[in-house]
Amino acid sequence: MYSVQTRIFTLDPQNPDPAVIVQAAERLHADGLVAFPTETVYGLGANAFSAVAVGRIFEVKKRPFYDPVIVHLSDISQIEQVARDIPSLAYELAQAYWPGPLTLVLKKGPQVAPNVSAGLDTVAVRMPNHRIPLALVETSGLPVAAPSANLFTRPSPTSARHVLEDLNGHVDIILDGGDCPIGLESTILDLTASPPTVLRHGGLDLDLLRERIPHLQIARRYVQTDEGLPMSAPGMLAKHYSPKAPLLLFTAQTDAALTRLRDLASALAGRGFKVGVMTTMEDARHFSDLNLEIADLGSAADLPQIGRRLFAQMRRLDSLRVDVILVRAPAQEGLGLTIWDRLFRAAEGKVFDLDKPLEAEEIISLLVKKEE
Ligand code: TXA
Ligand code: MG
Repeated sequence: MYSVQTRIFTLDPQNPDPAVIVQAAERLHADGLVAFPTETVYGLGANAFSAVAVGRIFEVKKRPFYDPVIVHLSDISQIEQVARDIPSLAYELAQAYWPGPLTLVLKKGPQVAPNVSAGLDTVAVRMPNHRIPLALVETSGLPVAAPSANLFTRPSPTSARHVLEDLNGHVDIILDGGDCPIGLESTILDLTASPPTVLRHGGLDLDLLRERIPHLQIARRYVQTDEGLPMSAPGMLAKHYSPKAPLLLFTAQTDAALTRLRDLASALAGRGFKVGVMTTMEDARHFSDLNLEIADLGSAADLPQIGRRLFAQMRRLDSLRVDVILVRAPAQEGLGLTIWDRLFRAAEGKVFDLDKPLEAEEIISLLVKKEE
């Protein structure tokens, strides 16, 4: 295992100290690992041209070798260093949404280390909207391969503390630029597919993409719900973005349905489970008289805030060692689709409808089985 003394530098996210950036750039040139904030989540960076450096990312994250990594750029013209046969749509989208939470999958250029792409002939690229990685890429002169800086299966890190929790002793430098302003990963768009296909919901609203790509397709792991909304299809996803405790996801159209969730929480607590509830400010009053760990997501009307808090609250409930986490899903519109996707994966595709009577005993026996 790649082991080093981890150093942390606190930087002004608007105006990072160039001397620190130079040190971090030197580590990249020496095949080291540098974690940095982006507008989405913290990334674990390595020189995208070095298979040795990229191999270390997989090793320390315990990431399966078949899961490819996103390459970070500081300038649109850098696309040509990492990709080939670049369609004009790529430049159009980059002009419109870079720097920002949009990752484009393109044909891979020969210089990019093969393990970046997990052996595929494509490469995913984006230009983050954050001064720290932009300065790091520019100063090093290297495209920087970086997945989220968490251990595989753990929630993505949205603060330097989360990175330290997962990777202390296995990353050379952590650049601490405070909390990530979006808190959810980038939207991934495959431009090698025809029509262009969204592979992952993320920080960029799909409606913005639809304005430019009328036939935009959503990857098959998302299916249409009755309301015609895309939703992740169960059975096609690995456990991902997960807290350690099982997370149970609930949908509810009516407020009355929430009393069912309250009764379930109460029944679970009565059986000796330490129960965590991730809830909006508006729903919180339903749970206030119970003995639970409440994780406040903010107002239901403020989806960006829910996005910013989501992963941090999963980690907080884990650190409180809850046995189970209950969450009511947000409305599936705009950023709500991305929040839904992350919760759905954390719940491993199990969703309970609170508008119907709940089989509390069934749910309890599910959890008891898990504990055994
Ligand atoms: O916001 C983000 O995208 C963050 C920050 C650090 O930039 N990065 C991130 O990386 O979320 P990661 O490794 O956690 O997710 C990368 C995902 C892979 O799991 C895969 O689904 C997709 O990007 N990906 C990468 N390269 C690809 C390729 N060549 N073809 C298809 N999908 C690819
Ligand atoms: Mg990740």
